[in-house]
Amino acid sequence: MSQPALSVRSLDLTDPATFIENDIHEFWRDVRARRPVYWHEPTDRNPGFWVVSRYADVQSLYHHDALSSARGNVLDVVLRGDDSAGGSMLAVTDGPRHRSLRNLMFSAFTPRVLGEVVEKVRKRTGELVSAVLEMDTFDFAAEVAEQIPMNTICDLLSIPAADRGALLQWNKMALSSGHADSSELDALSARNEIVLYFMELAQERRDKPGGDVISMLATSEVEGRLLTVEEVAVNCYSLILGGDETSRISAICAVLALIENPDQWHALRTGEVSYESAVEEVIRWATPGIHLARTAVEDFEIRGEKVRGGDIVTLWNISANNDESVFDQPRRFTLSRSPNRHLSFGHGPHYCLGAYLGRGELRALLSALVERVGRMELRGTPRPIYSNFLTGYESLPVHFAGR
Ligand code: HEM
Repeated sequence: MSQPALSVRSLDLTDPATFIENDIHEFWRDVRARRPVYWHEPTDRNPGFWVVSRYADVQSLYHHDALSSARGNVLDVVLRGDDSAGGSMLAVTDGPRHRSLRNLMFSAFTPRVLGEVVEKVRKRTGELVSAVLEMDTFDFAAEVAEQIPMNTICDLLSIPAADRGALLQWNKMALSSGHADSSELDALSARNEIVLYFMELAQERRDKPGGDVISMLATSEVEGRLLTVEEVAVNCYSLILGGDETSRISAICAVLALIENPDQWHALRTGEVSYESAVEEVIRWATPGIHLARTAVEDFEIRGEKVRGGDIVTLWNISANNDESVFDQPRRFTLSRSPNRHLSFGHGPHYCLGAYLGRGELRALLSALVERVGRMELRGTPRPIYSNFLTGYESLPVHFAGR
Protein backbone atom coordinates (compact mmCIF):
# COMPACT_ATOMS: atom_id res chain seq x y z
CA MET A 1 0.00 0.00 0.00
CA SER A 2 1.43 3.41 -0.89
CA GLN A 3 1.99 5.86 1.97
CA PRO A 4 -0.19 9.00 2.18
CA ALA A 5 1.52 12.05 0.65
CA LEU A 6 3.52 14.04 3.19
CA SER A 7 2.25 17.51 3.85
CA VAL A 8 4.57 20.29 2.73
CA ARG A 9 4.35 21.89 6.14
CA SER A 10 4.72 18.70 8.15
CA LEU A 11 8.48 18.20 8.24
CA ASP A 12 10.89 20.14 10.45
CA LEU A 13 13.94 20.66 8.20
CA THR A 14 16.01 21.92 11.15
CA ASP A 15 15.79 18.52 12.86
CA PRO A 16 18.31 15.83 11.76
CA ALA A 17 15.81 13.10 12.73
CA THR A 18 13.52 14.28 9.92
CA PHE A 19 16.00 13.04 7.34
CA ILE A 20 16.25 9.58 8.86
CA GLU A 21 12.65 8.90 9.81
CA ASN A 22 10.92 9.91 6.56
CA ASP A 23 10.93 9.03 2.88
CA ILE A 24 12.60 12.31 2.12
CA HIS A 25 12.52 11.87 -1.65
CA GLU A 26 8.75 11.51 -1.55
CA PHE A 27 8.57 14.68 0.54
CA TRP A 28 10.64 16.63 -2.00
CA ARG A 29 8.59 15.30 -4.93
CA ASP A 30 5.51 16.67 -3.22
CA VAL A 31 7.17 20.01 -2.42
CA ARG A 32 8.42 20.49 -6.00
CA ALA A 33 4.95 19.80 -7.34
CA ARG A 34 2.84 21.77 -4.86
CA ARG A 35 4.92 24.50 -3.12
CA PRO A 36 8.27 24.74 -4.95
CA VAL A 37 9.16 27.82 -2.89
CA TYR A 38 7.70 27.95 0.62
CA TRP A 39 8.22 29.59 4.00
CA HIS A 40 9.32 27.09 6.66
CA GLU A 41 7.50 28.16 9.81
CA PRO A 42 9.62 29.04 12.86
CA THR A 43 10.01 26.29 15.48
CA ASP A 44 10.27 26.84 19.24
CA ARG A 45 14.06 27.00 18.83
CA ASN A 46 14.54 28.62 15.41
CA PRO A 47 13.28 31.44 13.20
CA GLY A 48 11.55 30.65 9.89
CA PHE A 49 13.27 30.48 6.49
CA TRP A 50 12.55 30.04 2.77
CA VAL A 51 12.81 26.60 1.16
CA VAL A 52 13.64 26.39 -2.57
CA SER A 53 13.32 22.97 -4.19
CA ARG A 54 13.18 23.06 -8.01
CA TYR A 55 16.35 22.68 -10.06
CA ALA A 56 15.81 25.84 -12.13
CA ASP A 57 15.19 28.00 -9.05
CA VAL A 58 18.07 26.56 -7.01
CA GLN A 59 20.44 27.03 -9.93
CA SER A 60 19.38 30.62 -10.60
CA LEU A 61 19.51 31.64 -6.91
CA TYR A 62 23.14 30.47 -6.69
CA HIS A 63 23.86 33.47 -8.94
CA HIS A 64 21.50 35.97 -7.35
CA ASP A 65 23.11 39.26 -6.23
CA ALA A 66 20.53 39.68 -3.46
CA LEU A 67 21.82 36.58 -1.67
CA SER A 68 24.86 36.60 0.59
CA SER A 69 27.00 33.83 2.10
CA ALA A 70 28.69 36.08 4.66
CA ARG A 71 26.45 35.06 7.57
CA GLY A 72 27.14 31.38 6.79
CA ASN A 73 26.27 28.85 4.09
CA VAL A 74 24.85 26.10 6.31
CA LEU A 75 21.36 26.43 7.81
CA ASP A 76 22.33 25.55 11.41
CA VAL A 77 25.05 28.20 11.46
CA VAL A 78 22.85 30.92 9.94
CA LEU A 79 20.03 30.10 12.36
CA ARG A 80 22.40 30.43 15.32
CA GLY A 81 23.64 33.85 14.13
CA ASP A 82 26.65 35.01 12.14
CA ASP A 83 29.41 32.68 10.95
CA SER A 84 32.53 33.87 12.80
CA ALA A 85 34.64 33.24 9.66
CA GLY A 86 32.38 35.47 7.51
CA GLY A 87 34.47 37.81 5.36
CA SER A 88 37.70 35.87 5.89
CA MET A 89 36.96 32.26 4.84
CA LEU A 90 36.34 31.82 1.12
CA ALA A 91 33.00 30.00 1.31
CA VAL A 92 31.49 32.66 3.57
CA THR A 93 32.82 35.78 1.82
CA ASP A 94 30.96 37.77 -0.84
CA GLY A 95 31.60 40.07 -3.79
CA PRO A 96 34.98 41.41 -4.94
CA ARG A 97 36.84 40.13 -1.86
CA HIS A 98 35.50 36.64 -2.51
CA ARG A 99 36.57 36.86 -6.17
CA SER A 100 40.13 37.98 -5.30
CA LEU A 101 40.55 35.34 -2.60
CA ARG A 102 39.13 32.64 -4.87
CA ASN A 103 41.44 33.63 -7.76
CA LEU A 104 44.39 33.47 -5.41
CA MET A 105 43.47 30.05 -4.01
CA PHE A 106 42.66 28.76 -7.46
CA SER A 107 46.01 29.94 -8.82
CA ALA A 108 47.71 27.90 -6.07
CA PHE A 109 46.06 24.75 -7.47
CA THR A 110 48.40 24.58 -10.47
CA PRO A 111 48.19 21.65 -12.90
CA ARG A 112 51.53 20.42 -11.52
CA VAL A 113 50.29 20.48 -7.89
CA LEU A 114 46.96 18.83 -8.78
CA GLY A 115 48.63 16.24 -11.05
CA GLU A 116 50.97 15.14 -8.25
CA VAL A 117 48.16 15.02 -5.69
CA VAL A 118 45.88 12.94 -7.93
CA GLU A 119 48.72 10.50 -8.67
CA LYS A 120 49.24 10.00 -4.90
CA VAL A 121 45.48 9.52 -4.42
CA ARG A 122 45.47 6.83 -7.11
CA LYS A 123 48.35 4.96 -5.51
CA ARG A 124 47.01 5.27 -1.94
CA THR A 125 43.49 4.17 -2.92
CA GLY A 126 44.80 1.14 -4.79
CA GLU A 127 46.81 0.08 -1.72
CA LEU A 128 43.85 0.58 0.64
CA VAL A 129 41.55 -1.51 -1.56
CA SER A 130 44.18 -4.26 -1.89
CA ALA A 131 44.56 -4.36 1.91
CA VAL A 132 40.85 -4.95 2.59
CA LEU A 133 40.76 -7.96 0.25
CA GLU A 134 42.55 -9.83 3.04
CA MET A 135 39.70 -9.13 5.50
CA ASP A 136 36.46 -11.00 6.08
CA THR A 137 33.88 -8.36 7.10
CA PHE A 138 35.18 -4.81 7.38
CA ASP A 139 33.85 -1.27 7.65
CA PHE A 140 34.49 0.38 4.28
CA ALA A 141 34.00 3.80 5.89
CA ALA A 142 36.80 3.30 8.43
CA GLU A 143 39.22 1.17 6.41
CA VAL A 144 39.08 2.98 3.06
CA ALA A 145 36.81 6.03 2.73
CA GLU A 146 38.11 7.79 5.83
CA GLN A 147 41.75 7.41 4.78
CA ILE A 148 41.53 9.19 1.44
CA PRO A 149 40.28 12.81 1.71
CA MET A 150 42.36 14.07 4.65
CA ASN A 151 45.52 12.60 3.16
CA THR A 152 44.65 14.25 -0.16
CA ILE A 153 44.23 17.65 1.51
CA CYS A 154 47.47 17.13 3.48
CA ASP A 155 49.25 16.38 0.18
CA LEU A 156 47.72 19.49 -1.37
CA LEU A 157 48.97 21.64 1.50
CA SER A 158 52.33 19.82 1.80
CA ILE A 159 51.74 18.99 5.47
CA PRO A 160 54.87 17.34 6.89
CA ALA A 161 54.37 13.59 7.49
CA ALA A 162 55.23 13.97 11.19
CA ASP A 163 52.30 16.39 11.76
CA ARG A 164 49.59 14.43 9.97
CA GLY A 165 48.67 12.13 12.85
CA ALA A 166 47.82 15.07 15.13
CA LEU A 167 45.88 16.86 12.41
CA LEU A 168 43.81 13.76 11.62
CA GLN A 169 43.10 13.29 15.33
CA TRP A 170 41.97 16.91 15.86
CA ASN A 171 39.81 16.70 12.76
CA LYS A 172 38.05 13.60 14.09
CA MET A 173 37.40 15.36 17.39
CA ALA A 174 36.22 18.49 15.59
CA LEU A 175 33.63 16.43 13.73
CA SER A 176 32.39 14.33 16.61
CA SER A 177 30.42 16.85 18.68
CA GLY A 178 27.11 15.18 17.74
CA HIS A 179 28.23 11.84 19.22
CA ALA A 180 27.35 10.65 22.69
CA ASP A 181 30.91 10.30 23.99
CA SER A 182 32.20 13.79 23.12
CA SER A 183 31.21 17.34 23.93
CA GLU A 184 30.81 20.52 21.90
CA LEU A 185 33.69 21.91 23.99
CA ASP A 186 36.08 19.12 22.88
CA ALA A 187 35.06 19.77 19.27
CA LEU A 188 35.62 23.51 19.65
CA SER A 189 39.05 23.09 21.18
CA ALA A 190 40.02 20.65 18.41
CA ARG A 191 38.93 23.23 15.80
CA ASN A 192 41.06 25.84 17.58
CA GLU A 193 44.06 23.49 17.55
CA ILE A 194 43.69 23.08 13.78
CA VAL A 195 43.55 26.84 13.18
CA LEU A 196 46.53 27.43 15.52
CA TYR A 197 48.50 24.71 13.75
CA PHE A 198 47.84 26.31 10.34
CA MET A 199 48.74 29.78 11.74
CA GLU A 200 52.16 28.49 12.80
CA LEU A 201 52.69 26.83 9.44
CA ALA A 202 51.57 30.00 7.63
CA GLN A 203 54.12 32.07 9.58
CA GLU A 204 56.91 29.55 8.87
CA ARG A 205 56.13 29.52 5.15
CA ARG A 206 55.76 33.29 4.98
CA ASP A 207 59.32 33.51 6.38
CA LYS A 208 60.64 30.71 4.17
CA PRO A 209 58.28 30.15 1.23
CA GLY A 210 58.27 27.00 -0.92
CA GLY A 211 56.22 26.12 -4.01
CA ASP A 212 53.18 24.88 -2.06
CA VAL A 213 49.64 26.19 -1.57
CA ILE A 214 50.21 27.53 1.98
CA SER A 215 53.36 29.45 0.91
CA MET A 216 51.40 30.95 -1.95
CA LEU A 217 48.57 32.07 0.36
CA ALA A 218 51.01 33.37 2.98
CA THR A 219 52.97 35.56 0.55
CA SER A 220 50.27 36.92 -1.76
CA GLU A 221 48.17 40.06 -1.53
CA VAL A 222 44.38 40.23 -1.75
CA GLU A 223 42.93 43.69 -2.42
CA GLY A 224 46.30 45.34 -1.82
CA ARG A 225 47.39 43.67 1.43
CA LEU A 226 48.90 40.40 2.58
CA LEU A 227 46.45 37.94 4.15
CA THR A 228 46.94 37.75 7.92
CA VAL A 229 48.19 34.40 9.25
CA GLU A 230 44.69 33.88 10.70
CA GLU A 231 43.17 34.38 7.25
CA VAL A 232 45.64 31.93 5.69
CA ALA A 233 44.84 29.46 8.48
CA VAL A 234 41.04 29.59 8.17
CA ASN A 235 41.30 29.13 4.43
CA CYS A 236 43.55 26.11 4.85
CA TYR A 237 41.01 24.77 7.32
CA SER A 238 38.25 25.51 4.80
CA LEU A 239 39.79 22.94 2.46
CA ILE A 240 39.31 20.34 5.21
CA LEU A 241 35.78 21.54 5.94
CA GLY A 242 34.89 21.50 2.25
CA GLY A 243 36.73 18.40 1.15
CA ASP A 244 36.85 15.82 3.93
CA GLU A 245 33.32 14.67 4.75
CA THR A 246 31.88 15.36 1.29
CA SER A 247 34.43 13.12 -0.44
CA ARG A 248 34.22 10.43 2.25
CA ILE A 249 30.42 10.26 2.02
CA SER A 250 30.55 10.05 -1.79
CA ALA A 251 32.98 7.12 -1.64
CA ILE A 252 30.78 5.23 0.84
CA CYS A 253 27.73 5.98 -1.28
CA ALA A 254 29.52 4.71 -4.42
CA VAL A 255 30.19 1.29 -2.90
CA LEU A 256 26.69 0.91 -1.45
CA ALA A 257 25.04 1.96 -4.73
CA LEU A 258 27.20 -0.48 -6.73
CA ILE A 259 26.27 -3.32 -4.34
CA GLU A 260 22.57 -2.45 -4.57
CA ASN A 261 22.69 -2.10 -8.36
CA PRO A 262 24.63 -5.13 -9.68
CA ASP A 263 23.78 -4.24 -13.31
CA GLN A 264 25.61 -0.93 -12.85
CA TRP A 265 28.63 -2.64 -11.24
CA HIS A 266 28.65 -4.97 -14.25
CA ALA A 267 28.46 -2.03 -16.69
CA LEU A 268 31.41 -0.37 -14.93
CA ARG A 269 33.52 -3.53 -14.86
CA THR A 270 32.94 -4.35 -18.51
CA GLY A 271 33.73 -0.80 -19.63
CA GLU A 272 30.17 -0.18 -20.92
CA VAL A 273 30.23 3.15 -19.09
CA SER A 274 33.15 5.54 -18.80
CA TYR A 275 34.66 6.45 -15.43
CA GLU A 276 33.88 10.14 -16.12
CA SER A 277 30.18 9.48 -16.47
CA ALA A 278 30.12 7.02 -13.53
CA VAL A 279 31.80 9.59 -11.25
CA GLU A 280 29.18 12.23 -12.11
CA GLU A 281 26.29 9.88 -11.35
CA VAL A 282 27.85 8.84 -8.04
CA ILE A 283 28.16 12.51 -7.06
CA ARG A 284 24.56 13.26 -8.12
CA TRP A 285 23.27 10.16 -6.35
CA ALA A 286 25.22 10.95 -3.17
CA THR A 287 24.53 14.73 -3.05
CA PRO A 288 26.55 14.82 0.22
CA GLY A 289 25.63 18.43 1.06
CA ILE A 290 21.85 18.40 0.88
CA HIS A 291 21.28 22.13 1.17
CA LEU A 292 23.13 25.43 1.16
CA ALA A 293 21.96 28.51 3.00
CA ARG A 294 22.11 32.17 2.07
CA THR A 295 20.80 35.42 3.59
CA ALA A 296 18.88 37.96 1.50
CA VAL A 297 20.50 41.39 1.55
CA GLU A 298 17.57 43.06 -0.24
CA ASP A 299 13.97 42.24 -1.18
CA PHE A 300 13.26 40.13 -4.26
CA GLU A 301 10.53 37.90 -5.64
CA ILE A 302 10.61 34.27 -6.67
CA ARG A 303 7.60 32.35 -8.02
CA GLY A 304 5.32 35.06 -6.64
CA GLU A 305 6.78 34.80 -3.11
CA LYS A 306 8.23 37.99 -1.60
CA VAL A 307 11.60 37.42 0.04
CA ARG A 308 12.60 40.31 2.35
CA GLY A 309 16.10 41.60 3.07
CA GLY A 310 17.37 39.69 6.15
CA ASP A 311 15.40 36.49 5.37
CA ILE A 312 17.23 33.17 5.36
CA VAL A 313 16.94 31.28 2.05
CA THR A 314 17.80 27.58 1.75
CA LEU A 315 18.62 25.91 -1.58
CA TRP A 316 17.98 22.16 -1.52
CA ASN A 317 20.48 20.39 -3.77
CA ILE A 318 19.03 17.03 -2.83
CA SER A 319 15.70 18.07 -4.33
CA ALA A 320 17.19 19.83 -7.38
CA ASN A 321 19.32 16.75 -8.16
CA ASN A 322 16.16 14.62 -8.23
CA ASP A 323 13.96 17.05 -10.14
CA GLU A 324 12.14 14.93 -12.70
CA SER A 325 11.87 17.84 -15.12
CA VAL A 326 15.68 17.73 -15.51
CA PHE A 327 16.71 14.14 -14.66
CA ASP A 328 14.89 11.21 -16.30
CA GLN A 329 13.89 8.67 -13.60
CA PRO A 330 16.00 10.46 -11.01
CA ARG A 331 15.68 7.71 -8.36
CA ARG A 332 17.45 5.24 -10.65
CA PHE A 333 21.21 4.98 -10.25
CA THR A 334 22.30 5.16 -13.92
CA LEU A 335 26.03 5.44 -14.42
CA SER A 336 25.64 6.30 -18.11
CA ARG A 337 23.30 9.25 -17.36
CA SER A 338 23.89 12.05 -19.86
CA PRO A 339 23.61 14.97 -19.58
CA ASN A 340 24.12 15.00 -15.82
CA ARG A 341 24.34 18.62 -14.72
CA HIS A 342 23.82 17.95 -11.02
CA LEU A 343 24.26 20.67 -8.41
CA SER A 344 26.25 18.60 -5.90
CA PHE A 345 29.22 20.98 -6.26
CA GLY A 346 26.96 24.03 -6.08
CA HIS A 347 26.87 26.53 -8.93
CA GLY A 348 27.94 30.09 -9.70
CA PRO A 349 30.53 32.13 -7.80
CA HIS A 350 31.02 29.63 -4.94
CA TYR A 351 31.18 26.54 -7.20
CA CYS A 352 33.31 23.95 -5.39
CA LEU A 353 36.99 24.83 -5.50
CA GLY A 354 37.92 21.18 -4.93
CA ALA A 355 35.67 19.65 -7.62
CA TYR A 356 38.65 18.41 -9.65
CA LEU A 357 40.09 16.66 -6.60
CA GLY A 358 36.70 15.33 -5.45
CA ARG A 359 36.21 13.79 -8.88
CA GLY A 360 39.81 12.51 -8.90
CA GLU A 361 39.29 10.73 -5.57
CA LEU A 362 36.15 8.98 -6.81
CA ARG A 363 37.70 8.02 -10.09
CA ALA A 364 40.64 6.51 -8.20
CA LEU A 365 38.20 4.52 -6.06
CA LEU A 366 36.13 3.23 -8.99
CA SER A 367 39.20 2.15 -10.93
CA ALA A 368 40.73 0.47 -7.85
CA LEU A 369 37.47 -1.49 -7.38
CA VAL A 370 37.32 -2.54 -11.04
CA GLU A 371 40.99 -3.54 -11.15
CA ARG A 372 41.08 -5.43 -7.84
CA VAL A 373 37.61 -6.52 -6.67
CA GLY A 374 35.53 -9.36 -8.10
CA ARG A 375 32.51 -9.31 -5.78
CA MET A 376 31.21 -6.88 -3.13
CA GLU A 377 28.70 -7.91 -0.46
CA LEU A 378 26.83 -5.98 2.21
CA ARG A 379 27.38 -7.64 5.62
CA GLY A 380 25.16 -5.64 7.98
CA THR A 381 23.16 -2.45 8.24
CA PRO A 382 24.89 0.79 7.22
CA ARG A 383 24.72 3.49 9.94
CA PRO A 384 23.23 6.75 8.60
CA ILE A 385 24.69 10.17 9.35
CA TYR A 386 22.58 12.22 11.75
CA SER A 387 22.47 15.68 10.17
CA ASN A 388 20.26 18.12 8.29
CA PHE A 389 23.21 19.23 6.15
CA LEU A 390 25.00 16.00 5.19
CA THR A 391 23.36 12.81 4.00
CA GLY A 392 24.78 9.32 3.64
CA TYR A 393 26.35 6.70 5.89
CA GLU A 394 29.13 6.77 8.45
CA SER A 395 29.69 3.03 8.52
CA LEU A 396 29.31 0.36 5.84
CA PRO A 397 29.99 -3.27 6.82
CA VAL A 398 31.01 -5.17 3.69
CA HIS A 399 33.10 -7.97 2.27
CA PHE A 400 35.16 -7.70 -0.91
CA ALA A 401 36.36 -10.79 -2.78
CA GLY A 402 39.40 -10.31 -5.01
CA ARG A 403 39.24 -10.80 -8.77
C1 HEM B 1 32.51 24.74 -2.14
C2 HEM B 1 30.58 20.28 -2.51
C3 HEM B 1 35.05 18.34 -2.50
C4 HEM B 1 36.79 22.65 -1.12
C5 HEM B 1 31.61 23.70 -2.30
C6 HEM B 1 30.19 23.87 -2.50
C7 HEM B 1 29.65 22.63 -2.58
C8 HEM B 1 30.74 21.66 -2.45
C9 HEM B 1 28.17 22.28 -2.75
C10 HEM B 1 29.45 25.21 -2.64
C11 HEM B 1 29.27 25.94 -1.32
C12 HEM B 1 28.40 27.17 -1.44
O1 HEM B 1 27.91 27.50 -2.53
O2 HEM B 1 28.14 27.82 -0.41
C13 HEM B 1 31.64 19.38 -2.56
C14 HEM B 1 31.49 17.95 -2.83
C15 HEM B 1 32.75 17.41 -2.84
C16 HEM B 1 33.68 18.48 -2.56
C17 HEM B 1 30.17 17.24 -3.08
C18 HEM B 1 33.20 15.98 -3.06
C19 HEM B 1 32.55 15.08 -3.73
C20 HEM B 1 35.92 19.35 -2.13
C21 HEM B 1 37.34 19.18 -1.94
C22 HEM B 1 37.83 20.39 -1.53
C23 HEM B 1 36.71 21.33 -1.48
C24 HEM B 1 38.12 17.88 -2.17
C25 HEM B 1 39.24 20.83 -1.19
C26 HEM B 1 40.32 20.22 -1.51
C27 HEM B 1 35.78 23.58 -1.30
C28 HEM B 1 35.94 25.02 -1.06
C29 HEM B 1 34.71 25.62 -1.36
C30 HEM B 1 33.82 24.54 -1.77
C31 HEM B 1 37.21 25.71 -0.56
C32 HEM B 1 34.35 27.11 -1.27
C33 HEM B 1 34.41 27.75 -2.66
C34 HEM B 1 33.95 29.19 -2.68
O3 HEM B 1 33.23 29.61 -1.78
O4 HEM B 1 34.33 29.92 -3.62
N1 HEM B 1 31.92 22.35 -2.29
N2 HEM B 1 32.96 19.65 -2.38
N3 HEM B 1 35.58 20.65 -1.85
N4 HEM B 1 34.50 23.34 -1.73
FE1 HEM B 1 33.75 21.52 -2.17
